[in-house]
Amino acid sequence: MSPEHRHTQPVDTRRVDAREKVTGAALYATDLHPDQLAHATLATATIGRGRIADLDVSAAAAVPGVLLVLSHLDHLDLQSPGFVMGGGYGVQSLQPLLDDRIAYRGQAIALVVAETLTAATEAANLVRARYETEPFAATLDSPGVERIAQPTAIPLPFLADIDVGDAESAYAAAPLHVDATYDQPAQHQNPMELIGATVWWRGDTLIVHEGTQSAGAIRHGLAQQLAIDAANIEVISPYTGGGFGQKNSLQIHIAPLALAARRIGRPVKLVVSRTQLFHHTSFRPASRHRIRLGADEHGRMVAAIHEVEHQTSRHDLFPLMYNEITARLYGIRDFRGRQTFARMDTQTPGFMRAPFEHPAAFAFESAVDELAYAANRDPLEFRLANDTTVDPVSGEPFSSRHLAQCLRRGAKTFGWSARRQRPASMRAEDGSLVGWGVAVGAYPASIVPATSHVVAGADGRVRVEVDGHEMGQGIRSTIALLVAEDLGIDVRHVDIVVGDTRVATQHLTAGSWGTASALGAVHAALRELRKQLGADVGGPVDVSAAVRAASRDTVEARAATLGPGQTEQDGERARQGHPVIAGPEFPGYSTFSWIAHFVEVRVEPTTCRIRVPRVVSVADCGRVASPVTAASQVRGGIVWGIGASLREAGEVDPRYGGFLNASLEEYPVPVNADIGTLDVDFIGEPDLRFHPVGVKGLGEVSMVGVAAAVANAVYHATGVRHRRLPIRIEDVLAGATA
Ligand code: MOS
Repeated sequence: MSPEHRHTQPVDTRRVDAREKVTGAALYATDLHPDQLAHATLATATIGRGRIADLDVSAAAAVPGVLLVLSHLDHLDLQSPGFVMGGGYGVQSLQPLLDDRIAYRGQAIALVVAETLTAATEAANLVRARYETEPFAATLDSPGVERIAQPTAIPLPFLADIDVGDAESAYAAAPLHVDATYDQPAQHQNPMELIGATVWWRGDTLIVHEGTQSAGAIRHGLAQQLAIDAANIEVISPYTGGGFGQKNSLQIHIAPLALAARRIGRPVKLVVSRTQLFHHTSFRPASRHRIRLGADEHGRMVAAIHEVEHQTSRHDLFPLMYNEITARLYGIRDFRGRQTFARMDTQTPGFMRAPFEHPAAFAFESAVDELAYAANRDPLEFRLANDTTVDPVSGEPFSSRHLAQCLRRGAKTFGWSARRQRPASMRAEDGSLVGWGVAVGAYPASIVPATSHVVAGADGRVRVEVDGHEMGQGIRSTIALLVAEDLGIDVRHVDIVVGDTRVATQHLTAGSWGTASALGAVHAALRELRKQLGADVGGPVDVSAAVRAASRDTVEARAATLGPGQTEQDGERARQGHPVIAGPEFPGYSTFSWIAHFVEVRVEPTTCRIRVPRVVSVADCGRVASPVTAASQVRGGIVWGIGASLREAGEVDPRYGGFLNASLEEYPVPVNADIGTLDVDFIGEPDLRFHPVGVKGLGEVSMVGVAAAVANAVYHATGVRHRRLPIRIEDVLAGATA
């Protein structure tokens, strides 16, 4: 039964903000149009690296309607926000517009503010820069890339190499081997809501509206950049039109916008264009994975070595965490993981949905498929035979792991038993080659400090103010459903406020920890509320009657929760806008979400066009807190996995640096016509060891393993193994004629 059929509420109660969103009533940050609004655009650098020898903004400033042109010539009074993964708040440590250095193509060189967007855009095009260029490196193979082992650069325990047993010896002794290298290109989030902000000053208070995953980081980062008190900054982000990791920290335009708004004494809005987006903010770094796997003659995997490098900028070290899941997918005793930075001349890359797990699973699960074929075993049976209940890294149990159940249920739904093992042995009626592939995925369960404030009213409504950001994943629905179920009230009587620093800290929402963190805090506040309402025995609550019985208009409760093993110091760091993350190893156990994907591809034999008519995915995310939004999350993850495997790549410009295909015309993502049947199912077993209401996390695991399942299906269809993403028609054609 699909999740849609399990619940019987009317549609509008399942996704509580659906009506606002589809009617346009939901206002996103740059939908705002305050009085006296001025419009900003950016002028950007056209060289790969060097310095600005001469900047001429006079023609720009002379465009009618231009109010202000800000550049390094103005000696802006701004500090670096620091890099979010280096103890700071920013998408990168480099704050453009402060000096004449150009670190990467597309770096902002001027901010133009005008009465209209048209005037600002015209003026930005008239900003003239003369550069002194320097050699740059923009791909993993470019001369000048600087490589550093991660443990040398950042000696922190959670970024250490993984060494369990003696993988090199076990690999050497194994009778069956795979040794292959897999390439993942740079990729770019293209959320529907472009990055942008509307900012203004109310006296000494700075008001920032920006679609973000971390209003708290923006608030505290701006305080540092502008040297003002965080108490004088309000960051408001009720909706984010797609985060996917790109909106997880303070963007580089916000502080200059704040300065501009102060100078002209008016609100200012900036929407970063689709093309500029590719160079303005973080992206998925290119990575290269060498996987060595060894198995014994019974098809038992005995050794795995996963060596990976990924690109980072010259100015920041975006950490690598690829081994974290590959070491846990199977019960492989001897595991060795090595992670290396490749520093080059781009903006700092960052988190993009399943940032490490998707490329890692593509590489590792492709290699597992190769090994299954080397062992002449069915790839599904091979995976089931290598399952584990113990975390091979920590030696502790997993708090829950229903991966084998995901595989078995998915195989049944998909009809896997009808598969022929031999590649290129299945055909459709139209002559297309048919391939069936399977792969698994995992994603660490994490939890972060969260605060929640619950207000029950005499009118029977319950208002919940909580740490968390709504970025399309449906966190409002998830929270509202929990409150409604807990108190036995109608979900339409629950109001949720998220993404607002006026009501809560607003820790970063990312890493698929949003639901677990917010629900933990709301669950705790509800326990307190029940006490105050005299309803702590459980059961449904007549909220209106209980509040009136207390002779009050409202009854309030608050909770501040921490992840397992976190301390009050962690809570304080979170209140300062820093990410403070617990997991996936907790005292006594480890927690991951799991998923299995089954993919059918059809390869048209003449053109080698690849179609994906159907996918079956079964997830173990603990309790399914909100069935409708959960199923949507997984569908979105599958679609993204299909895009990652067949479409998406940032094409690096070897002449001038940066990305050539910086538009949706040239950076194709899947459209409806590319997507067939997506069958999504959940195990739904609550993980109460990890979490008070049993949720783990879902958003990112949904994508993990999809690309490998597609690549494995293409291999099964054609007999040719593709180890570089995306797999394009020309690659399959080359394989077919080789
Ligand atoms: Mo997610 S890529 O951690 O926002």
